[in-house]
Amino acid sequence: MSTNQLDKKSEAWSALFSEPMSELVKRYTASVFFDKRLWLADITGSLAHAEMLAAQKIIGASDLADIQRGMAQIRSEIEAGGFEWKLDLEDVHLNIEARLTQLVGDAGKRLHTGRSRNDQVATDVRLWLRDEIDLISDLLKELQVALVDVAEKNVEVILPGFTHLQVAQPVSFAHHLLAYVEMFSRDAERMADVRRRTNRLPLGSAALAGTTYPLDRERVANTLGMEGVCQNSLDGVSDRDFAIEFTAAASLCMVHISRFSEELILWMSQNFGFVKIADRFTTGSSIMPQKKNPDVPELARGKTGRVVGHLMGLITLMKGQPLAYNKDNQEDKEPLFDTVDTLKDTLRIFCEMVGGQLNPATGAKEGGITVNAAAMEAAANKGYATATDLADYLVKKGLPFRDAHETVAHAVKAATSHNCDLSELPLTVLQGFNASIEKDVYECLSLRGSLNARNTLGGTAPVQVKAQIARHRSRLA
Ligand code: ARG
Repeated sequence: MSTNQLDKKSEAWSALFSEPMSELVKRYTASVFFDKRLWLADITGSLAHAEMLAAQKIIGASDLADIQRGMAQIRSEIEAGGFEWKLDLEDVHLNIEARLTQLVGDAGKRLHTGRSRNDQVATDVRLWLRDEIDLISDLLKELQVALVDVAEKNVEVILPGFTHLQVAQPVSFAHHLLAYVEMFSRDAERMADVRRRTNRLPLGSAALAGTTYPLDRERVANTLGMEGVCQNSLDGVSDRDFAIEFTAAASLCMVHISRFSEELILWMSQNFGFVKIADRFTTGSSIMPQKKNPDVPELARGKTGRVVGHLMGLITLMKGQPLAYNKDNQEDKEPLFDTVDTLKDTLRIFCEMVGGQLNPATGAKEGGITVNAAAMEAAANKGYATATDLADYLVKKGLPFRDAHETVAHAVKAATSHNCDLSELPLTVLQGFNASIEKDVYECLSLRGSLNARNTLGGTAPVQVKAQIARHRSRLA
């Protein structure tokens, strides 16, 4: 095949084809306009492969030098935006290989020895995704730190804790934020776990069955910083479970962000007024001048659907495929790329929206979430948030819990009809429900008393919350 022949993909295969591909089929089958994004992984994988081919004396030392020189030039062309991507050459792999051959001649044509695009693309996607997972892991850490920073300033701030979105029991606002830190820390663990299985080498599987050349696959894996080689060639070229796992982990992370978004949206509404986020994360209305809409959290909630959709797309893509490689797999890229982009952008924006931006002049972060402690506490004072505490008080006086529960229900009824809180009922009235009630009851009916009383591991008492903050700080250091 001459150098010129590689300019057109329809001519890249062999003399077997009697007519060129139709324009429509060309567009339908081409992936270069999205998979060119894999260019750096493609070059990195090719260089590791070529270096091994030379070490194994499958190609000559001068071929390797030519390949390295050609790839360096291609790299700078792509970085400078001067590389001409050709639809006719179908995908990123054929585009780069064709250019290499144009630049260095026969050495370029030797690069594909012992390799197929099937193991090449599987390697490229894994390499690319591994590095993206590392960026995502950094962002997850940053977001956790931002949440812990806000938590640390709000340990004593009391928020009504909800079940069924009805006031349930008072909780520390820090405790509430730390619930999200737990979620994001599990997301980070999942990412680390997916990374291990992503970081394995398919190269050497060739088209499907391995190759007749004496490749040293371990050497290539080592060069690429991979944790091992795929042990079955059919599996290595065909499965995309690592991409599915990643998208599942990304979906869960987006679901956590979406739940947090939902809370921010509620908390920012006039009816709650618990927090404010910086104006740059909100938008106005074209008709209602008073509006400040929480567009960023709303969009994050919306984009969660999109990522979950990608998970469905990828898992469905896999389900009907017989071994080994099928062209179906070319469809793995767009959902995967979009999942990575959406998750990274969302995490970045949340890091800043929660924690603020670094002011280089002061070295401090500014413009994160602003907390309206008074509004939170006022809301916690509505809805009889300390009713359970009164029941627990009666249990300590010797009542069985079920009886105490019933007694408190009567007290709540009385408070409702007086339009006051339990803590505002006079002692004599309370004693009417149970004679053992004494003056110290008011301590347990206060929000702060209720909070302090939940002093078990994982509970909302400020001492527990402070201990959790310390644990997160050392874990995230
Ligand atoms: N562009 C292809 C993909 O993304 C590369 C592998 C093509 N292999 C093949 N046998 N047609 O999957």
